[in-house]
Amino acid sequence: MVMRAMIQRRKGLLMLASTALAIGAACAVSAQQAPAPAIPPEAIAHPDIWPQAHWPYKADPALEKRIAGLLQRMTVEEKVGQVVQADIASVTPADVKQYHLGSVLNGGSSGPYGDDLAPAAKWLQLADEFYAASVDKSGGGVGIPVIWGIDAVHGNSNIIGATLFPHNVGLGAMHDPALMRRIAEATAAEIRVTGQEWTFAPTITVPQDGRWGRAYEGYSSDPRLVSDYVGQFIRGLQGEPGATDILKGPHVIASTKHFLADGGTEDGHDQGDAKISEAELRDIHGLPYVAAIDAGVQTVMTSFSSWNGVKMAGNKSLVTGVLKDRMGFGGFVVSDWNAHGQVAGCTNASCPQAINAGLDMYMAPDSWKPLWHSLLAQVKDGTIPMARLDDAVTRILRVKMRLGLFEAGKPSSRLLSGRYDVLGSPEHRAIARQAVRESLVLLKNNGSVLPLNPGANILVAGDGADDVARQSGGWTLSWQGTGLKPEDFPGATSIWAGLNSAIGAAGGTATLSPDGSFTGAKPDAAIVVFGETPYAEFQGDLKTLQLKPELRAPLATMKKLKAQGIPVVALMLTGRPLFVNPEINAADAFVVAWLPGSEGAGVADMLLAGTDGKVAHEFRGTLSFPWPATADAKGKHLFALGYGLKTTSDTAVPPLSEDPGVADNAQQGTYFANGVPAASWSLIVADAAGQQTRITTVPATGANGDVAVTATDHIVQEGARRFAFGGKAQATIALTTQAPVDVARESNGDLMLVTTMRVDTAPASTLTLSARSGTASASVPLAGLAAPGAWRTYGVPLKCFANQGVDMEHLDVPFALTTSGKAVISLATVQLGTVADQIAACPK
Ligand code: BGC
Ligand code: BGC
Repeated sequence: MVMRAMIQRRKGLLMLASTALAIGAACAVSAQQAPAPAIPPEAIAHPDIWPQAHWPYKADPALEKRIAGLLQRMTVEEKVGQVVQADIASVTPADVKQYHLGSVLNGGSSGPYGDDLAPAAKWLQLADEFYAASVDKSGGGVGIPVIWGIDAVHGNSNIIGATLFPHNVGLGAMHDPALMRRIAEATAAEIRVTGQEWTFAPTITVPQDGRWGRAYEGYSSDPRLVSDYVGQFIRGLQGEPGATDILKGPHVIASTKHFLADGGTEDGHDQGDAKISEAELRDIHGLPYVAAIDAGVQTVMTSFSSWNGVKMAGNKSLVTGVLKDRMGFGGFVVSDWNAHGQVAGCTNASCPQAINAGLDMYMAPDSWKPLWHSLLAQVKDGTIPMARLDDAVTRILRVKMRLGLFEAGKPSSRLLSGRYDVLGSPEHRAIARQAVRESLVLLKNNGSVLPLNPGANILVAGDGADDVARQSGGWTLSWQGTGLKPEDFPGATSIWAGLNSAIGAAGGTATLSPDGSFTGAKPDAAIVVFGETPYAEFQGDLKTLQLKPELRAPLATMKKLKAQGIPVVALMLTGRPLFVNPEINAADAFVVAWLPGSEGAGVADMLLAGTDGKVAHEFRGTLSFPWPATADAKGKHLFALGYGLKTTSDTAVPPLSEDPGVADNAQQGTYFANGVPAASWSLIVADAAGQQTRITTVPATGANGDVAVTATDHIVQEGARRFAFGGKAQATIALTTQAPVDVARESNGDLMLVTTMRVDTAPASTLTLSARSGTASASVPLAGLAAPGAWRTYGVPLKCFANQGVDMEHLDVPFALTTSGKAVISLATVQLGTVADQIAACPK
């Protein structure tokens, strides 16, 4: 076993060395730069078969002259600075001045002065500091004002108190381009309050596979609908192209993302590979970019993903050939979060390939300084032609001038700055509430249960009824939208709060009861709110189109209520259509609310009749993605794109098959990844007596408060979980399932249980790894742990468990880590594998 592991690693090294030799001989490369493999023909686009767009800004000789004058006076260091963007968690205003950085951003979990939940005034204060540093010429230089980019992807959604609009999946269901423009205008105004100039929105992805955890960031799987929206949204953010300097109005610049085919990757893998023809690339994923350019979008963000094996940020035929030359895009291209480091031959610290392919600004959150140095060296040694750098800087300066940035003064002196009354203003909340109303889709209304009489006795159940964070999804205050409390949402209305006040006002009775229990009179109807919990990148990827097992409890509540003769209205919170036929069957009426955001009262508007008993607001939302008939992402559809009932429709939905059509162990072989258990697995913390706490969100504690669970980074932010064992008594962290897996065949060969762990504080007593089937269990001490601080893979041969009597045909705990002293351990993955850094010996 040990030998095999070593041989496999050796092989990897050998292969790298021989490719390097072969390519190194053929082309000249700069010393520290790994060679870039040639781009295969299937990843080279043919610009002449792509549509042309109409960039709406006319050439402006005065502006060009001004830019040329600036360029002449700029040093190479200043030029390089313009093409680098750093994250506010890793850069100071002094750095911005010293390195002449062109831009800063705040990643989803970065906030001013280290506080992701900082109040609005702090954002503006920091914006002023960055601005002042950028225009400070005391150390020399021309002093070009910095721009700050923010993920205002559903409202100014990083800021406490901002209006949170429905996520794009819901907006798609509205089919209302005019309302899109008003949403964008309101969002731009709220961004201006806190001093930023640039939003990384709209996402104009065209998701083709609902397993992708970012599907909810897209309006539709239909490129035509996305195209109908994008122009209105960009005009709402930026104003009419060329009408006036953008910052003179209540506007910001937009960024369409992620170019290209982020929604076309194989099996919906985040940052994956779109293995599709050039025609599909163009007609499905490329189409909305025509509308975006026609509307004058100022920036385009490249995708983390690949087309036919080649990362977008390094694909010159697409970034330069198609986007700039053929389509005529006249803004600048920014890359995604260290995505340049994924281009073949690149690292986060060095990637001339990207700018040479046509990238104009590197999003280099924490890598900006080494990147700045390598870019400088590469311009000086000619790896990057000066003309290309000048072009990139010129494009960035054009955008800054169209903004009117040079004349705008410090952020706090601009229109709307510091107008905290505009954040979450009643006008903006009213727009969001209208969007909620328009986005709800009625899938079933058997027996015309809806609308409900607001004067009745209504039970509101389900685990999602009174939770603004849950109804807001990812990219809300924090990156994944997790770890938030009700007080983080001042002015917001949960679905329950909206129902309660409307029912109360109409003289009815509303009762909140998450588990559906009630005392006293039988309710006239029940609303059960259920569905997905927040996620963003990676963490939302699924293997099959199903709710995670821990989210299926409300089904039992629906069945129980229905069995008592109570009409049930199911309200689903979700980022995507999923197989929920059992829930559809259990409910009389079924409404999809998507991720509605801060204005939960929009739900009550739709579910309740007016006091006159008539429909107050008729449903108008229709599906902008097809709804699946099974959990198989490539399977048949139950409801087509465009489906959506009215309360007056006489369509009755018959009982549906409850067969998900996929094996329940679809995640076989992976039990824990990206900081979360795989579908149908649970992460638990247990005390010495076996008392368990299921960990679904972090921070959390288990084992009577003795084990603290938090998020930590591994490969990506929050890609792992950290467990601090307090050492009061023995405690265990484990992965468990209700549906034991059969790994008997695997245990026969040389497969291991492999876990990626980091010891943060060495355990005070032995750490043992055990597995269990029912009551049979086997333990292996983990010896030879790495020194604190380094990620390592540890393998335990499955045979070790089998030999000790665990029934490998019915394994329900493949991984349990136990210790009785103090220790801090971070866990990134648990899976079956054949290679590990450290392999445990089976106890005799
Ligand atoms: C940032 C996100 C970014 C992600 C990329 C996070 O640390 O907060 O904004 O999208 O990393 O993996
Ligand atoms: C995401 C982008 C986002 C950026 C900045 C990336 O990881 O893919 O959508 O704009 O981070 O937060």
